Amino acid sequence: RKVLVLNGPNLNRLGKREPEIYGAHTLADLESMCVAWGKANGLDVQMRQTNHEGQMIDWLHEAADDGCPVVLNAAGWTHTSVAIGDACAQLTGPLFEVHISNVHAREAFRHHSYVSPYATGGIIVGMGLAGYTYALDSIVDEGEPDLE
Ligand code: DQA
Repeated sequence: RKVLVLNGPNLNRLGKREPEIYGAHTLADLESMCVAWGKANGLDVQMRQTNHEGQMIDWLHEAADDGCPVVLNAAGWTHTSVAIGDACAQLTGPLFEVHISNVHAREAFRHHSYVSPYATGGIIVGMGLAGYTYALDSIVDEGEPDLE
C-alpha cells in the first residue's frame, strides 16, 4: 500500500537547522526510518521533500488522484498557504499533519494551520521524528489502536 510522506521547505536542512528545536537527525535518517518502518509493516512509503510550493501542490494532486494516505509536514507553508490548504481539501485518502516541534509552544504565527481542517487522519505535534512513525502506525491500524 502506497503512502506519501511529504515534507515542505527547510526540512532538507534537518540535522543542521536549529538542532535545539528539530534535533540532530537528518532528512536521510528520517527517510530510512520511515521506509524501514513501512517495509516491516507492509507499507510502500515514498518519502519526498521540496522547497518549492508548486511541486508540493503537484504531489498532493497525485495523492488525491491515487487515493493514498498522506503524511504531511508542510513546515512554514502550514501557517501561510491557502493554496496548500486547498490542495489538502482535495485529498481522497486520510491526511496526517505532522510537526516535529510543538508549534503551540512557539511563536503565535505558528498556532494557525491551513492544513489542520483537512487532517482527517489526525494531527501529531511536538513528538519529534517519532511523529512520522506514529502516523504510519495509525495508517496500518486504520485509526484504531491494537488492543491486545
Ligand atoms: C515545523 C514547524 C513549523 O512551524 C516550521 O515552519 C517548520 C517545521 C515542524 O516540523 O516542527 O519548518 O513544521
